[in-house]
Amino acid sequence: MVGQYFKGKIALVTGAGSGIGRALCLHLAEAGATVVCTDINMENATETSQVIGDRAIAYYLNVSDELSVNDLVDLVATKYGHIDFIFNNAGIAVSGELRDIKLSDWKKLMDINFYGVLYGSQAAYQMMLKQGSGHIVNIASAAGLADGLALMAPYSVSKHAVVNYTHILRVEGKALGIRASVVCPGFVDTAIGKSAVEANAKPNWKNKALDALKKGVSPEKAAALILKGVASNQETIVFPWAIKIAMKIDRILGGVVKIMMQKELADFRKNYRLPD
Ligand SMILES: NC(=O)c1ccc[n+]([C@@H]2O[C@H](COP(=O)([O-])OP(=O)(O)OC[C@H]3O[C@@H](n4cnc5c(N)ncnc54)[C@H](O)[C@@H]3O)[C@@H](O)[C@H]2O)c1
Repeated sequence: MVGQYFKGKIALVTGAGSGIGRALCLHLAEAGATVVCTDINMENATETSQVIGDRAIAYYLNVSDELSVNDLVDLVATKYGHIDFIFNNAGIAVSGELRDIKLSDWKKLMDINFYGVLYGSQAAYQMMLKQGSGHIVNIASAAGLADGLALMAPYSVSKHAVVNYTHILRVEGKALGIRASVVCPGFVDTAIGKSAVEANAKPNWKNKALDALKKGVSPEKAAALILKGVASNQETIVFPWAIKIAMKIDRILGGVVKIMMQKELADFRKNYRLPD
């Protein structure tokens, strides 16, 4: 239940052309918000806004372009008079071993997954400070909570940065009237695996990732859980339950994830990594 939290509000969503972003737009509109659907894929962003109809508009936005992000947040605030929510959702994935991942892939991922979130948050924060209200929602991942997650270093590092950045933003924004929440899902059944980069891996590694994603929660269920958590102003929104339990066990026993990762790594080296 999200009650009236989104009713009559203006929400900007990045990565709105697919997966979680698209589902967020549809759920926000259903909850009574006007939705600004943005994506680097304009065709898909437009499709999202057309499904919604009158209470949505689509814009091209590359979140790794700081000036464009600032301009778009300005445009939204000018057009509607305010901006109530930003969902910094756009993200990509890279997997493989540290010794194989190119620095250019690290950079591209950080530019989107971390700097994209930072640019969106900072631009919206400045605008929201003038209004005295607003809620910034950053989509991280369970990979931003687990420590020592081998085979997905750039992704995990970027998401850890998003988690901590959002927690700090929440502390600093609190007395100024600005809320911040970070979202840490496990697998969600989206297209993220299709566009992911696999460093020095056989094609069956991508297939393994695609299979894992297929077993994840639906984007619709993810969006519903996210909006419920945001409406109740949760600091860190974690789902499904198995992730919460795994994180608790890891904290209590210490290092379970790292032990599991040694097994995963051995399997990767035996069955999926391309020979030197
Ligand atoms: N799918 C999962 O299992 C999962 C789990 C945890 C967290 N997440 C996070 O959820 C977010 C959404 O991912 P998804 O699973 O819906 O993936 P997706 O691939 O279905 O959607 C991502 C969207 O981001 C857009 N995008 C990519 N680069 C962009 C850029 N530079 N500027 C603007 N838009 C850009 C893509 O065009 C796409 O529409 C990501 O941040 C991802 O890391 C996903």
